[in-house]
Amino acid sequence: MLDIDFVVRSKRRNISDRVENAWRHEQKSPARSWPVIRDLPSRVRGEFARRRPDTQATERGIHPGVPQAVSKRKRGPRMSKFTVPGLSDDQGARVADILQKRLSAYNDLHLTLKHIHWNVVGPNFIGVHEMIDPQVELVRGYADAVAERIAALGKSPDGTPAAITRDRTWDDYSVHRDTAQAHLGALDLVYSGVVEDNRKAIAETGDLDPITEDLLIGQTGELEKFQWFVRAHLENSGGSLSTNGAHSEKQAASQTR
Ligand SMILES: [Fe+2]
Repeated sequence: MLDIDFVVRSKRRNISDRVENAWRHEQKSPARSWPVIRDLPSRVRGEFARRRPDTQATERGIHPGVPQAVSKRKRGPRMSKFTVPGLSDDQGARVADILQKRLSAYNDLHLTLKHIHWNVVGPNFIGVHEMIDPQVELVRGYADAVAERIAALGKSPDGTPAAITRDRTWDDYSVHRDTAQAHLGALDLVYSGVVEDNRKAIAETGDLDPITEDLLIGQTGELEKFQWFVRAHLENSGGSLSTNGAHSEKQAASQTR
């Protein structure tokens, strides 16, 4: 008579052995282990996925043969063993942290500007559609300059989408297909947020690193000029802005529409 317990125990041991074997392959050669893991029976593969710490990354399509711990090691530490001359390592790290927030704000801003470029409709479409693109290029350039400054300061700049959502204190731009006036109203608030945060960063870096302060001052001046372009569409002959008192992009858009 068939000993069911024995069969179950054997199967469990078999699964366990194969999972162990896959683990050994992965630890020895992460890049080559995926064919081994892929060819496992689905039950064994499921057990393997449950035991490894990186299941979520697998679901998101990251190479399943590379465990998270290895990915982190490959990425290396965030700080180098140097910073710019004249700053202590701590000062360099502090300035780089301030700039990381600016990098994420600029990456968010140039994506938002493109979103507006694509979603603006109605009268004055072409004027606003074309006014936005040079600003996109400018802000992308600022993101590049800030990221390179972070690297010069000895830190690894984080330009990923995850960094944008991690570093920002605001939600995604909330206006979709809408008129030129509505977008310009919402954009006025977007620029106010970016410029205010830039000014805080300028104040913080002033004592620490005048080179970074100078970089941010130049960028902020240009951003304020573009906000003036935007506001010129929202201003009446009495000098008042139609966005006055608005606390959200949607509110600014409806006041302006
Ligand atoms: Fe375009």
